[in-house]
This record gives sequence, C-alpha cells and structure tokens, in this order.
Amino acid sequence: MSAATLPVPSPEAQAHSAKLVALIAAEIQNHGGWLPFSRYMELALYAPGLGYYTAGARKFGVAGDFITAPELSSLFGRTLARQLVQIMHASSPHILELGAGSGKLALDILSELEVLGALPERYSILEVSADLRQRQQQLIAERLPHLADRVHWLDALPDTISGAVIGNEVLDALPVHLVHWQAATLPSPAGRGSEGEGVHQESGSLDRKSPTPPLPRSEMGQVLLERGISLTESGQLCWRERPITDPALLAAAQRIQVPDDYLSELPLAANGLITSLGQRLQQGALLFIDYGFGAREFYHPQRDRGTLMCHYRHYAHDDALFLPGLQDITAHVDFTAVAEAGVDAGLEFLGYTSQAFFLINCGITDLLNEISPDDVRAYAPLSGQLQKLTSPAEMGELFKVIALGRALEAPLQGFGRGDLSRLL
Ligand SMILES: C[S@@+](CC[C@H](N)C(=O)[O-])C[C@H]1O[C@@H](n2cnc3c(N)ncnc32)[C@H](O)[C@@H]1O
Repeated sequence: MSAATLPVPSPEAQAHSAKLVALIAAEIQNHGGWLPFSRYMELALYAPGLGYYTAGARKFGVAGDFITAPELSSLFGRTLARQLVQIMHASSPHILELGAGSGKLALDILSELEVLGALPERYSILEVSADLRQRQQQLIAERLPHLADRVHWLDALPDTISGAVIGNEVLDALPVHLVHWQAATLPSPAGRGSEGEGVHQESGSLDRKSPTPPLPRSEMGQVLLERGISLTESGQLCWRERPITDPALLAAAQRIQVPDDYLSELPLAANGLITSLGQRLQQGALLFIDYGFGAREFYHPQRDRGTLMCHYRHYAHDDALFLPGLQDITAHVDFTAVAEAGVDAGLEFLGYTSQAFFLINCGITDLLNEISPDDVRAYAPLSGQLQKLTSPAEMGELFKVIALGRALEAPLQGFGRGDLSRLL
C-alpha cells in the first residue's frame, strides 16, 4: 500500500499534522539540519499534545488505526493473569504494566485476578502518554471502582522492582535508529538506497579524497550510515543519510553482519529499557509480548528494507514521513537483542515462545470451555477471538512472548511447551 492511496485525513487532522511538522522542522534547524530517525519517531509518536500517542485521536480498535490483543479479546488478559499469579506467588504481589494503551489489559487482568482470589497489592502503570494515562484512569474508575486504590500511575521506573512486569506491544512502539550498511564501493548516483529512492547523502561525507574523519565501517568494509530526517529547500521533510557518529549505534551496527546496501533498524531504546528493568528487578519476571523474531530472522539477507511499518486507519504502509502525528510508526522486535540486554543486566532467561503456545500453556482453552457451546451467543464470539489470538495465520505465530527474571525457582507455566529459544 503506498501512502498516495491512503484515506485522506480531514482538514482538522491535516492542520494538526502541520503543527507537528513545524515543531519537527524547527528541531531539525536547531540541530544543524538533521535529526536521527529515532528522534523523529519519538516526536512523531510522543511530542506532548501533538504526537500520535499523546494527542487525543482514537488509536486502538475497529474505529482506530490498529487492534491489539487486549482490545480484541478479554481472553488475552484473563489468560495472562494466570501466569501473573505464578510469578507473584514466587516473588511479590505486585504488577507493573508498561505502556497500558486504553487500559483494557489492566482491566481484564485485575478482573480475572479478583475472580481467582489473587489480586496484587499494587498494580502500577508507567505510561508515557498523558492522554492515554487519563483514559486508563477513567476506565479503571468506571469499571473497577472498588479496586481503584490498588492502581497507581508512575512517572518513572521505580528504583527497585519485585513482582511481575508486563508490556504488550510496547517494545515495538519505542523509537528505533535506522542504519544503512552501504557497499564499500560507492554505488552510481542511481544506485539503490541513494538519491534514486529519494534519500540524500550528505555531500562530501563520502568523499574518498577527504582525509578526515575516516568513514565508520563494518568488519566487511561496508560504510555505516545513519538514516535520518532533514528538510528540502522548500521546507519539506526528507530522508538524509550521514556516517554514523553515535558510538553506541556504531558498536551495535558493527556487530551485525548483513549484505551490502542493507537497511534496517537498531533498537537502542528498547535495549536500554530492558537494561534499566534488569538493573531494578530484585525478584520476579519481565514478560514482553510483541511481533518480531530472533536476530537471524530480523537481519535476514532478504529483509533488506527492515521492518519499519506505519498504521493508518487499518492500512499498513512504510512511509514514515506520511502525515506525522496521524499514524502509528512501529518496528518489529529483535527478541535476541531483548534477551541479550536482559542477560547482560544480570537477568536469567526464562523462556521464549509464540503467543499461541504461551496462551495455550496458560490455559486459554479452559476459559473457553467454561462456556457451553449450546450458548452460541456467548461461545461463538469467544471462540472466534481465541482463533485470532492463537492461529498461525493471525497473531499466534508472529507474536512472541519472552520472559526474563531473577530469583524465581520454578519454570514459568507459559513456556512449558513450544520452546523457541533456539531461534534467538
Ligand atoms: C502500541 S501501544 C500498546 C498499548 C497496550 N499495551 C495494548 O496492548 O493495547 C504502545 C503503548 O506504549 C506506550 N509507551 C511507549 N513508550 C513508552 C515508554 N517509554 N514507557 C511507557 N509507555 C510507553 C504508548 O503510549 C502506548 O500506550
């Protein structure tokens, strides 16, 4: 789907996007004419009052731009709750949810834990969007007023964490850096990944006669470029590449071996979040659920344009510069990087499996079996939702669950069958 064929936004929505573009353009000008893509993505999604997640538009569900598992079915949160019981029992009766969206997952988890007689003492939510935080507070106040005093919103990660930490589709929403592993031999001007794609390279930066500074290179001699955002002469946002200067990004890009002229994402922010959580977790487990794969598949030679994806009114496309603020921008998750960041921070790897196996291991089918198939009105929709959550053709295989933890004795029930750790 090309951005040209997407539904046309209302004049108000276009004016909103124009305000965000003006803010981004000002920041580009204040930073010497270029911003890393990660900063652009951060502003496009989270600029206060203007970003996609921070402005008031409806995002989740049928009327929004995409649908997540908790929005699709309460079976998701109810099943996840069973895994949380085990983690809380083995550590502390606390849950921390990162990026709680509409609040639906918190609602389903708390409702189920109440039924199971296993309510947490505290259910904390760390949400970067003030608008979503307000919606979450409203939902809990309306639907679970008697439990509202257990739910707390945090402004930052606590210094120490004990219990269960969960994040559904949060890692994919964190800003990524874009890297271009360019062939050691410079391509012709019409070559792939250069001007021919509407991507400009900083003039002079690839001039081989220039003695300094040396170009950053991979082990295979490829020139390592960071793709970012600049402005055309007429003030439009455009892509621009320049040699990587950020040492952390350079080190990460040098660890990855890909063919020439390869473009992909590096999830430094997601890795940083896992590191911070790992440093704070005293006892318990982190559970992250998202779409993605291990590094071999993520950086597969054929995936040479990366995984960056935008969602606008249920259309998926790859033009991240299309009307900033009106569309979601996401990248798949490199679960190998998540596991490595956790283990480097001293956590134990506890499991990696598909969403289908995780939910089945935690008893999703038992929840369906609580309803008689004779009660077609109740049974049929739930059965359809279970199918969407677990079918390999829908969310069952692309979505994975990873667990990292500290000081837990028993294996987690969600990973009993369907181990995929060989793919990390
Ligand atoms: C794709 S939505 C998923 C929402 C919800 N978990 C669900 O499954 O429906 C991503 C969520 O993560 C939040 N978020 C993004 N970056 C975050 C961060 N650094 N800390 C906490 N929340 C964050 C967003 O505001 C949003 O609520």
